Amino acid sequence: EKQGFRHFMLKEIYEQPSVVRSCLETYLDASWSKEKAEEKSPINLGLAGELCDNVDYIQIVACGTSWNASMVGKYLLEQLAGIPTMVQYASEFRYSPAPMLRNTLTIGVTQSGETADTLAALEMEKQRRMALESPYNAQILGITNRPESTLAHMVDRIINTQAGIEIGVAATKSFIAQLMGFYCLAIDLAYRRQHLSADKLESLVKGLRELPNQIELILSQQEKQIEELAHEFIDTQDFIFLGRGINFPIALEGALKLKEISYIHAEGYPAGEMKHGPIALLDAKVPVVAIAMPGDVHDKVLSNAQEAKARDARLIGVTPTDDNEARATFNDLLFVPHVDELLSPIISVIPLQLLAYHIAARRGLDVDQPRNLAKSVTVE
Ligand code: F6R
Repeated sequence: EKQGFRHFMLKEIYEQPSVVRSCLETYLDASWSKEKAEEKSPINLGLAGELCDNVDYIQIVACGTSWNASMVGKYLLEQLAGIPTMVQYASEFRYSPAPMLRNTLTIGVTQSGETADTLAALEMEKQRRMALESPYNAQILGITNRPESTLAHMVDRIINTQAGIEIGVAATKSFIAQLMGFYCLAIDLAYRRQHLSADKLESLVKGLRELPNQIELILSQQEKQIEELAHEFIDTQDFIFLGRGINFPIALEGALKLKEISYIHAEGYPAGEMKHGPIALLDAKVPVVAIAMPGDVHDKVLSNAQEAKARDARLIGVTPTDDNEARATFNDLLFVPHVDELLSPIISVIPLQLLAYHIAARRGLDVDQPRNLAKSVTVE
């Protein structure tokens, strides 16, 4: 069952390369090349034009880790497909929905397909849109890991993230699979709207294909180091995770994983917001994890990290950059492969999952069944 792993969570972390591979096999057209860009999309999600043509806005509802994945999705849908996207907590949206905009595609994201708030928010949205005349689109797309779930039966179409059953309460492989679903959706919509050049499409597709091997590399090269590093946080009570841009939601996800299974207080922040409050928390007892992936915001993250260091915080960097500046800035470096910034969340989240796992395992906690949590939250 656990196939030699100590916990299901660790087994599921190790399944991620094959989850990404199977997603690519299912949704990426293997015969696509940029010469074929005139004829067909590199992605085949089987979405009808009715669902995704004439979409001016996207709104997403989700909870927990699925909400974090949706925040990465927002970035992709906006940056790749050029569609303004709102992400709402299902439990908030239900009671204070935004005024309806025309030509809006609604997406519900839920691993289990059974989360009560997410289902209720989608039902409410469907009803209020159906009560109106077109062109208020009432179509709903679901992104779920359970094609037999309640969600799957209530929406017009699903993207099946096909990560396989996840037993650990902390979502890992299902999160990676949701991200893959968003990459496929954003690229497909970008193609349909002719929002990306054939060269850009090609480089994204090429980058996606390299991800499984890159995740394997992190698992094989980093796990021991992360396990040892985890020993140093036996008495730590607070952690801060910083990221910017597309990696801001990964800072949230790193903090959520740590909270859930290790019971350490952790907060994710957009790195630039640190000086507007959380910096007051920092001292030698509060480690800071900074996600510093190459791209538009790399130098900004480094300078935010240096501000934390000036307050004596222990700094852990998730980065592919092995140079003097990185070595001088970070106390600990968790190296990851160098990838396109747009693809980097799939890479940067892996060491954060391992860090949360090893801290909790080291504390002797019930990693797969953390206190007070359930795998699917079917109450409001
Ligand atoms: C985090 C976690 C929860 C779920 C949340 C939503 O590790 O497991 O935060 O992500 O309860 O669940 P789904 O995606 O099933 O709607």
